[in-house]
Amino acid sequence: MRKASLYKRSNGLQRRDAKQTIEEFSHFLQWRSDGCDSLLDIGCGSGDVTIDFLLPILPTKFSKLVGVDMSQEMIEFARDQYPHPKILFEKFDLGVDLEKQQFRNEEPFDHITSFYCLHWVQNQEKAIQNMYKLLKPDGDMLLVFLAQNPIFEIYKQMSQSKKWAKYMIDCDNFISPYQYSKNAADQFGKLLYSNGFIEYSVEIREKFFVFEGIDLLKKSVKAVNPFIERIPLHDQDAFFDDYLNLVIKMHLSLDDIHTNSKTCRFLTPYKLIVAYARK
Ligand SMILES: C[S@@+](CC[C@H](N)C(=O)[O-])C[C@H]1O[C@@H](n2cnc3c(N)ncnc32)[C@H](O)[C@@H]1O
Repeated sequence: MRKASLYKRSNGLQRRDAKQTIEEFSHFLQWRSDGCDSLLDIGCGSGDVTIDFLLPILPTKFSKLVGVDMSQEMIEFARDQYPHPKILFEKFDLGVDLEKQQFRNEEPFDHITSFYCLHWVQNQEKAIQNMYKLLKPDGDMLLVFLAQNPIFEIYKQMSQSKKWAKYMIDCDNFISPYQYSKNAADQFGKLLYSNGFIEYSVEIREKFFVFEGIDLLKKSVKAVNPFIERIPLHDQDAFFDDYLNLVIKMHLSLDDIHTNSKTCRFLTPYKLIVAYARK
């Protein structure tokens, strides 16, 4: 539960982007005339985005809202935090054949949403095929995920260092499949089309986020960094220090860290893929 509760306390960037995208794009979602919509939120994490931003846009008569995540810890945390008769949290891995998972028995949904999850799935084709199967005919989906982010470059560089390489052998599995793409929107659009989605639109949004102070950056790194739990506790601060040195080397610190390390601000410029598609 530690990671889930840490994530919930340090996901300001993800919450901001989920809120903004829902405000801007949720009108694309085609609600049923009887108001009995079902919605599946993939990669729901600690569940707070599902509850705080998706629940309020659903028609009051909605039939069910299901959050899924590959992490059992996240699912248990979300179940514990958000008990509700029409809201379920279930384990499901978007990158694995639906037929091989318990979730295959679920009725298809009217809508799918997914925030900050798809860039974790290396097999993008499998992810899209799974989502296609999980949607009813005419069902639609709104997806938001990272195309590019300097953190992926930091992972790459750290994985090549003598000290950290042994903890990061599978580093490429944690880099967005679009990090080095010349035209991520086009690439993702083609995947949607070739897997059955006839109606779709894909946009790239250039964004930035400022982490106010070293503590906030550290909390956020700890909450989303996939390698840190593999590193012995006594070495985790050294791992973060090396991470920080790369941030500085990439000119992403806005203030001089030596003047006041506590209040130093850190910039993260990144690109998001925002996609709407209808079956
Ligand atoms: C950064 S969190 C986003 C959580 C939430 N959607 C939000 O916007 O705050 C990404 C979540 O995706 C989940 N995830 C990663 N790969 C996944 C996969 N293949 N299938 C399902 N969930 C996955 C992770 O376990 C994590 O909880």
